Amino acid sequence: MPRAIVITGASRGLGRALAVEYAAPGVALALIGRDAAALGAVARLAEAKGARVRIGRIDVRDRDALSAFLVETDEADATDCLIASAGVTMVTPRAGAVEDLTRAQDLFDVNLNGMMNTLAPLAPRMRARRQGQIALFGSIAAFAPPPDSPSYAASKAAIVAFALATRALYHADGVSVSVVCPGFVDTDMTGSFDSAKPFLLSAEDAARRIRRGLARRRAVIAFPRRLYYAARFQQLLPEPLRRRILLAFRATARP
Ligand SMILES: NC(=O)c1ccc[n+]([C@@H]2O[C@H](COP(=O)([O-])OP(=O)(O)OC[C@H]3O[C@@H](n4cnc5c(N)ncnc54)[C@H](OP(=O)(O)O)[C@@H]3O)[C@@H](O)[C@H]2O)c1
Repeated sequence: MPRAIVITGASRGLGRALAVEYAAPGVALALIGRDAAALGAVARLAEAKGARVRIGRIDVRDRDALSAFLVETDEADATDCLIASAGVTMVTPRAGAVEDLTRAQDLFDVNLNGMMNTLAPLAPRMRARRQGQIALFGSIAAFAPPPDSPSYAASKAAIVAFALATRALYHADGVSVSVVCPGFVDTDMTGSFDSAKPFLLSAEDAARRIRRGLARRRAVIAFPRRLYYAARFQQLLPEPLRRRILLAFRATARP
């Protein structure tokens, strides 16, 4: 059971649900996000369950501020679980439209550089202690990229590759890296677009599944399994059939 847990994207959605899931007496939580009021509300819930909480109101793109906060947090309570949940999505403005380049680059900045900014200050410290685990957030979209979210799917595929490589690299140092690949979870992110959302899960259910997967030190924590296996299976199909399946997951952004 981890005792010192850092969570990015803790103000809402999966990060928030994970903060509440792990909150218990004897647990130190460091919660990171940009929305101070929302982080405060999560902190109060976690404290009511007996956890000690530090809040970092930080944009994960701000490498220096994030690094300073993470090192300070690690000095206070040696981090044994790092959960990098912060992320954004994007759906094309209308069917067939091309993504806005600036927004796409911003998305990569949060999802990829933000994740690397989170990992960089803590991973060497965890490796030196030869202890701890790290959860990076991919998505089932990495395996079955939805046609209207190419940049999001690409950012998540990059995280899957990064996590699996890092897992192999850190193994000898006793640090376990997992990649979390949810299907559809009922959060603000999933609420920002309309599409088919099979097997939609609550954030609380997803948080329990993630916790179980991390306790077992799984390489890939993908759920629901039916959707994950379907996504992996379609990769083996002939391209015309694969294309038709992916087009069943067309999405439109909600205003
Ligand atoms: N929901 C799903 O169905 C689903 C499926 C597959 C994968 N995922 C992945 O799971 C993770 C969590 O998703 P979610 O559904 O919980 O999303 P969400 O409800 O939209 O919450 C996103 C979280 O990320 C934080 N965040 C976004 N940009 C940030 C930035 N620049 N700096 C710091 N924090 C930032 C937000 O906090 P602030 O707004 O306070 O900054 C918020 O706490 C993401 O990586 C997502 O890609 C989600």
